[in-house]
Amino acid sequence: MVLKEFKIRSYECQFDRAQVEDLERRCKVGPSESVLDTMGDPMCRIRNCPMYIMLVAEMDNELVGVIQGSIKTVTLHNHHPNKDMAKVGYVLGLRVSPHNRKKGIGSSLVQKLEEWFTSNDVDYAYMATEKENHASINLFMNKFGYIKFRTPSILINPVNHHPFGISSNIEIARIKVEKAESLYRGFMGASTEFFPSDIENILTNNLSLGTWVAYFKGDSGFGNLEGKVPNSWAMLSVWNCGEIFKLRLGKTPLSCMLFTKSLSLMNRIFPCLKLPTLPNFFSPFGFYFIYGVYQEGPFSGKLVRALCKFVHNMASKTEHCKIIVTEVGETDHELIHHVPHWKLFSCPDLWCIKALKKNGRTNRFHELTNTPPRGLFVDPREV
Ligand SMILES: CC(C)(COP(=O)(O)OP(=O)(O)OC[C@H]1O[C@@H](n2cnc3c(N)ncnc32)[C@H](O)[C@@H]1OP(=O)(O)O)[C@@H](O)C(=O)NCCC(=O)NCCS
Repeated sequence: MVLKEFKIRSYECQFDRAQVEDLERRCKVGPSESVLDTMGDPMCRIRNCPMYIMLVAEMDNELVGVIQGSIKTVTLHNHHPNKDMAKVGYVLGLRVSPHNRKKGIGSSLVQKLEEWFTSNDVDYAYMATEKENHASINLFMNKFGYIKFRTPSILINPVNHHPFGISSNIEIARIKVEKAESLYRGFMGASTEFFPSDIENILTNNLSLGTWVAYFKGDSGFGNLEGKVPNSWAMLSVWNCGEIFKLRLGKTPLSCMLFTKSLSLMNRIFPCLKLPTLPNFFSPFGFYFIYGVYQEGPFSGKLVRALCKFVHNMASKTEHCKIIVTEVGETDHELIHHVPHWKLFSCPDLWCIKALKKNGRTNRFHELTNTPPRGLFVDPREV
């Protein structure tokens, strides 16, 4: 068989938009066969990052592959107080058209993207994938030397029409961007991995719906004094992903389908029970992404739960917002316990990483990948 030649080049919106959108629709990702509808802007997932690129693979005037990448500076580990910032490149949106797979196109796209990272002084490249996406895992780990780094949990909660009640002794307040930035920098900046140095760009982005704090009434509240916080408090921010893309699943696990069917049957027989209705995952839906969840103090779990209910009630008024998604690090056991989610839909994510600078950074990479995981900041721009 003679392999046709293909070339890798930068995406040009004017000529490539329709073909890239079509490619995205034809590529089902992972065991859930999820498909993304980018609603006219294939670059929507990277557009909000400080630096980004989209590359395409072209064969006989047809686009047969695409990849995206973004660059930012984050906190990685804290053994050396002044050396814990690193420039990282995130690899996402790798797609090769089904008829052209296993011809080296995916590999060439990854290689060119890594070259772009290197030319921009990136220390580490990383990517996230479903644990069962064997093609992707083989490509990155076996072929490109990425290693397993972290396994955060993706927590998913369906949005239903019945609003949740929130305890009357809990105060929930929206805070200004400046306050949110100072709380995030003060409480998460040094302690979480992948905390972005440009957090203010996330908080001021139009997709960020706001930051809310919760504390118990009677507790001292958030004073104007620098750093003054209540004894128990929690905070989170919300990003409206549905504004830029919609998701559709091709397959749901059998257990999930059976559960959905039995719920709708129960709802028909006992409407007064007001059981939650499950979204139709087979038609395009939007979602809210909760990011920057932080809790402190003896009863803060209750506050996290109240904040999540508050977000749910907000989502239930937003058209097309069918689920609420949060991603938390594997060590954030308390958060996993307190953030409401349905185990049936929630799943582990796999983050893999690779050092791009060969000199001087090797020891640091060894140290990084052997450091036990800590709290993780999942950037909503990378969802
Ligand atoms: C993953 C994907 C991009 C691979 O593209 P590709 O052009 O077929 O990849 P390549 O031909 O460069 O293959 C490189 C390596 O990937 C691995 N690989 C590719 N397809 C595979 C498959 N179906 N099963 C297992 N491993 C596979 C192999 O290790 C392969 O190396 P080899 O050819 O020496 O065995 C493609 O299958 C795809 O678009 N899948 C759907 C979208 C997706 O899952 N993207 C990844 C999201 S993180």
